[in-house]
Amino acid sequence: MGSKFIALAAGGSIYILIVIAGLGLQSRIGNMVGTLQCDLATLFRNPPEGSMQHLVETKIAPMIAQMKVKYPLYIATIFSSAILRDLGLSRELACDDLDRSDYFFDAVILNSFTIVPRNKSIWAACYTQSTGQKIPTTLHLLNHMELYTPSNWTASRSYTSPLTDIDEEMYDDTSISRGSSPLLSLTGKDRDRWTIQERKYAEKAIAVCSMDDLQEKLTNIYKHGIKCTEKEYIHIPMSALNDKDLNIRSCDDRLLVFISTSMPAEFRDSLTDIFETCFDQSFCLVERDTWKDETHNHPAFQSMYWSWYNRHGTRGDDAPSDVQPCLLERQDCMHTNHSQIMPYVSREMHGHEETYHHFMKVFQNVFEWIRTMIETCLPEEYSVLSQVARMLPGNAYSPVHPFTSLVININAQTQGHRDTGDQEFCLVMPVGTYTGGGLALVEPGLILDLRPGDFAIFRSCDVTHFNMNYRGKRASLVLHTDKEMNAWLERRNNWDHNLTLQSYTN
Ligand SMILES: *[C@@H]1O[C@H](CO)[C@@H](O)[C@H](O)[C@H]1NC(C)=O
Ligand SMILES: *[C@@H]1O[C@H](CO)[C@@H](O)[C@H](O)[C@H]1NC(C)=O
Ligand SMILES: *[C@@H]1O[C@H](CO)[C@@H](O)[C@H](O)[C@H]1NC(C)=O
Ligand SMILES: *[C@@H]1O[C@H](CO)[C@@H](O)[C@H](O)[C@H]1NC(C)=O
Repeated sequence: MGSKFIALAAGGSIYILIVIAGLGLQSRIGNMVGTLQCDLATLFRNPPEGSMQHLVETKIAPMIAQMKVKYPLYIATIFSSAILRDLGLSRELACDDLDRSDYFFDAVILNSFTIVPRNKSIWAACYTQSTGQKIPTTLHLLNHMELYTPSNWTASRSYTSPLTDIDEEMYDDTSISRGSSPLLSLTGKDRDRWTIQERKYAEKAIAVCSMDDLQEKLTNIYKHGIKCTEKEYIHIPMSALNDKDLNIRSCDDRLLVFISTSMPAEFRDSLTDIFETCFDQSFCLVERDTWKDETHNHPAFQSMYWSWYNRHGTRGDDAPSDVQPCLLERQDCMHTNHSQIMPYVSREMHGHEETYHHFMKVFQNVFEWIRTMIETCLPEEYSVLSQVARMLPGNAYSPVHPFTSLVININAQTQGHRDTGDQEFCLVMPVGTYTGGGLALVEPGLILDLRPGDFAIFRSCDVTHFNMNYRGKRASLVLHTDKEMNAWLERRNNWDHNLTLQSYTN
């Protein structure tokens, strides 16, 4: 989160943070998703002609010019002497010297491109002030009285401390529109017919009653690691696992499916309730009986995509290495899509920002427990996935680490498909009160009868899967990572030759 404020300070100096605190905007800033802060910093430094430029030139720059005369701040009064020593910074570094301030904040690695240089003609107000000897103001003496808007200001608001954490912000209901689903484009009539037929085979599967039984059945239906009879499925009720986790590997020792049934009761029992608190009428669990629905066209389900993508990214192969990519336009008349040079977040993350934050907050402990489970039980897979999640632009943090995306399917019963865009695995965890709805994995011939709070990690990129019929209320959380993120991880979308890209080495 600190990276967001650093990016803004790179745009508007440390004084912009004081303004943000004074206006009580710190939780709004802390809640920004994607790399908005980098775009804002660019807007501050060199705003395009028009209203933004007018605002910076006539309001923001003069305001900061006044602030720095009134409150001369020094780096030494803001950061501890240990940090200054480690970074080799002079205690004399004044924050009111915009060039040096920019130099300082540009040095912070944000895993993205450095912000464009400041347009000194637009920021002229800050450069004309004489910079004589000043008595530094220490930051802690800047109390709220200095920041308080005059009481005759009609839009005055009650004071909130700059130290207020983001928890206090009330959660507002947001109406949620039907998410566009990549699955829908794939569900042709043929696919539906195929799925219905396949479901019939799967319904005939005999349930295993214990781990030993499962082992035996597995050895029977595979020959040399391949299912020998199509149409044959093994049904795995979670009770057969006896509260143990199950890890099935393919013969080349790759993870095929991992099932966890060990979610602590304190999380499992409240899962569906807390899920339902997150959404309003437009995205809520409803009773369904898919056995009856099946004769009709199955209703379009609703999905929420809270995802980082790197698809259709603008790659930097032939670009000059010393120019910020946002100043480049492609030669072939196509406008470069600047928002896709780096990985970007889905529109639904911006559109339902508050719902997103609320959801991530109430599920924080659950996701943290899942993260620990994967780290402990699947250390290799964890380290591969978390490399990407640790390298998000703007130092963004993924609440579903080691994955970077969360998709919520509500009232859904998926038809047969593969998620070829996934980086190998996805994690599926159902919530709700339902019977049926098992996850059928076609090629390995398994039906996983996951209960709310059980989860399965499986190779969604190359294993065909669909849901069995269910009765009741059911939603599933799907955690995954866009496999195109690897292009960012490996060569930063081929911008790694670029002098203005500042990121950590892998
Ligand atoms: C700075 O802003 C002015 C006014 O819009 C513009 O003419 C100039 O090109 C800008 N300078 C840079 C380096 O972008
Ligand atoms: C608010 O009060 C200040 C000082 O008392 C005064 O200069 C300013 O004009 C007032 N503003 C308005 C909008 O009344
Ligand atoms: C650029 O990419 C963003 C993110 O996907 C998209 O929302 C936007 O419409 C694109 N802009 C253009 C001009 O294609
Ligand atoms: C940028 O590109 C130049 C030339 O291609 C290369 O020498 C340099 O190491 C690159 N810088 C970074 C930070 O990758």
